[in-house]
Amino acid sequence: MSLLGKTIVITGTSSGIGAEVAKLARFQGAKVIGVDRNDPSLTLDGFVKADLSSVAAIDAAVAQLPAQVDALCNVAGVPGTADGDLVARVNYLGLRHLSEQVLPRMAHGASIVNVSSILGYEWPQRLAEHKALASAQGFEAGAQWLQEHPVAHETCYQYFKEALIVWSTTQSQKWFLEKGVRMNCVAPGPVFTPILGDFVQMLGQERVQADAKRMLRPGFADEIAPVITWLCSDAARWVSGANIPVDGGIASTYL
Ligand SMILES: NC(=O)c1ccc[n+]([C@@H]2O[C@H](COP(=O)([O-])OP(=O)(O)OC[C@H]3O[C@@H](n4cnc5c(N)ncnc54)[C@H](O)[C@@H]3O)[C@@H](O)[C@H]2O)c1
Repeated sequence: MSLLGKTIVITGTSSGIGAEVAKLARFQGAKVIGVDRNDPSLTLDGFVKADLSSVAAIDAAVAQLPAQVDALCNVAGVPGTADGDLVARVNYLGLRHLSEQVLPRMAHGASIVNVSSILGYEWPQRLAEHKALASAQGFEAGAQWLQEHPVAHETCYQYFKEALIVWSTTQSQKWFLEKGVRMNCVAPGPVFTPILGDFVQMLGQERVQADAKRMLRPGFADEIAPVITWLCSDAARWVSGANIPVDGGIASTYL
């Protein structure tokens, strides 16, 4: 599989999964532009320092991106131990806004990959709510909808990963039909990255120990990255609107 000649924008490249996706995409031949609030600690073809929780910062970052983008990987995210408003802005509203702003730079055959989570697997329980939020178009309308429908802090991470899966699924076919741009999610299970400890704190020991019995071990970031780069490639040209678990089989145990 090759990404030769492709220009790929990846958020969250300064740590964890995003850094591994950037490394692998470059190895596969892509030109990679990273976007993160922190400086990168790996070689990239370009880097834009930006706070993806802010519309103004996202717009300023997009202005610095190349005129043609072949893939956008929305990897940046914060755990549920962060402020609830920040979780909404980074993991959902900002991601939507960035995707909408990059879309005009994408040609037929381009790809958007959003990193969701196994913790978004209960989206069917709140489908109507997530569809209503998805239809509040634009960052400000989405923020307004959330003010009118407040989300509990304890479960905000799960809520916005669910919302991301529903928005990605419902939006994907519109963009595929109109522009030939595919959009998919990758849903990792627990992964050894700097935020794994935050997830343990967020979920509590009891849940973490129960989950530990359902899997061999947490994953490594370099086990998530190949699925993300594959979705960016032409080999995945008929894959759109999917939420692909990359979790060592843990989701299969929730049936
Ligand atoms: N690690 C896990 O167990 C796990 C499991 C499922 C899903 N995920 C998801 O994977 C994605 C990557 O997480 P990770 O584990 O690599 O975490 P990480 O903390 O190692 O990396 C997250 C990156 O996002 C960047 N970021 C956060 N807020 C930002 C902002 N406002 N503006 C710009 N950049 C920002 C950080 O600087 C960091 O480089 C996240 O969306 C996370 O929710 C992680």
